[in-house]
Parts: sequence; C-alpha cells; structure tokens
Amino acid sequence: MVISKAWQWENVDNTSRRYWEEPAVESYYLINRWKKQGKDKFLDLGCGLGRHSVLFAKNGFAVWAFDLSAYAVAKMQEWMKKEKLSVTCSVGDMIKLPYESECFDCILCRNVISHSDTEGVKKILSEILRVMKKNGECYLTLGSKNAWGFTQPWPIVDENTKIRLEDGPENGIPHFYADLKLIKELCVDFDIISLQHIEDYINKGTLHSCGWHWHVLLKKS
Ligand SMILES: C[S@@+](CC[C@H](N)C(=O)[O-])C[C@H]1O[C@@H](n2cnc3c(N)ncnc32)[C@H](O)[C@@H]1O
Repeated sequence: MVISKAWQWENVDNTSRRYWEEPAVESYYLINRWKKQGKDKFLDLGCGLGRHSVLFAKNGFAVWAFDLSAYAVAKMQEWMKKEKLSVTCSVGDMIKLPYESECFDCILCRNVISHSDTEGVKKILSEILRVMKKNGECYLTLGSKNAWGFTQPWPIVDENTKIRLEDGPENGIPHFYADLKLIKELCVDFDIISLQHIEDYINKGTLHSCGWHWHVLLKKS
C-alpha cells in the first residue's frame, strides 16, 4: 500500500484558503436529511481546515474530526474555539481509524479517500463501514477517471492511482480515480442511496473546471 501523505495546508494561499473555509453545497442538504432522521454523532473524516465540522457543530451535531495534517487540525480547533463550539479531534491516518465499531450516525468524507491507492481505498471503506452504526450514512466523494489528473504523466502506483507532481499543497500525494464499475465494486458492502458524477467549476475571475468527482451517499444496512 502507498504511504499516506497529508495535505500541505501551510502552502495554501489566502484565495484558495477562503474556498476551503466555505462549506460545500451538499452539506446543507445532509444537515437537513440527517436531522430529520434523528442522527447526532457526526464524523468529519479528513476535516481539513474544518469548514464542515464548524457547520455541523453550529447545527447541533456532536462532532468528531479527523485528519492526517496536524496543522489543519490545529487551525480547525482555533476556529471552533473562536465560535465557542466543541469538537473531539484527532490526528491520524484513515487507513486505521481510532474509533470503536458502530459509533457514528453519519460521516462526511469530502475529497479525502482518493488520497490513497486501490488497496488503501478498500481498507478505508472497510474502516468507514466498521465505525458506522446500523442505518448510519456516509457521504463521500471520489476522483473520477474523467478527471484531468488521470491523464497526466505522473508516476503510476497502480491501474487507478497516480502521484500528483505539481507544486502546491497536493505535491507528492497519491490520487485514486474510479469509474462506475469500480465504484459499484468498492461499495458492494453498503447500500448506495445516491450516486452522482459531477464536474465542478471554480470562478477565479474566469470560470474553469476543477475536476470530475463521484458523489456517493452510502448506508449501512
Ligand atoms: C482536499 S482536502 C479536503 C478537506 C475537507 N474534507 C474539506 O472538504 O474541506 C483533503 C484532506 O484529507 C486529508 N488526508 C489525506 N490523506 C489522509 C489520510 N491518510 N488520513 C487522514 N486524512 C488524510 C488531508 O490532509 C486534507 O486535509
């Protein structure tokens, strides 16, 4: 299995940082959905600077946050303190989660589990399944083989995985890309509630594509 590597958040410029401080659109839908279902214990897996941890805590969820970057977790704690919110956080590798089995109602894992290789992604999904309660749900995104990155001449780890090379916070970090067939195989132990294939655009003066991702809502039955 490839060696895990945290994002170098220290190298993210202020304009990009503002992007990572705004919650992703689907997080508002998930709050509504999971509140209606009476879910409470929430894990922000690969929390980064904490945009979703803060939002879920503000909306009354009991929040656990986890990331490999000690820098990101420290920034998230500062933000939580400023907002007078509480969170239980840990620094570690998602290949092995430091939680008991069946302890979370809901998990958000946005643009995180693709930072491994095929063997790693399988292991991480089995860890997610283990820590979810029965009827628990997990929303995750995965890189798509339609993405620009999959066509780049970066070092190959396995048939689905490359090591990203350009300067910036993702330098040297593995990127895993999937197609529909592979997603179905990977998620065979879950119920797939919804599956979307989305091209994201960013507006930094001019609108440009920033990649294709799979958005998957999973349930443990
Ligand atoms: C693209 S960022 C997304 C952050 C956050 N989910 C968000 O949407 O704002 C990916 C995050 O995954 C973390 N990460 C990468 N590999 C990891 C691993 N093996 N274990 C835990 N976190 C990891 C990175 O450090 C980074 O904070």
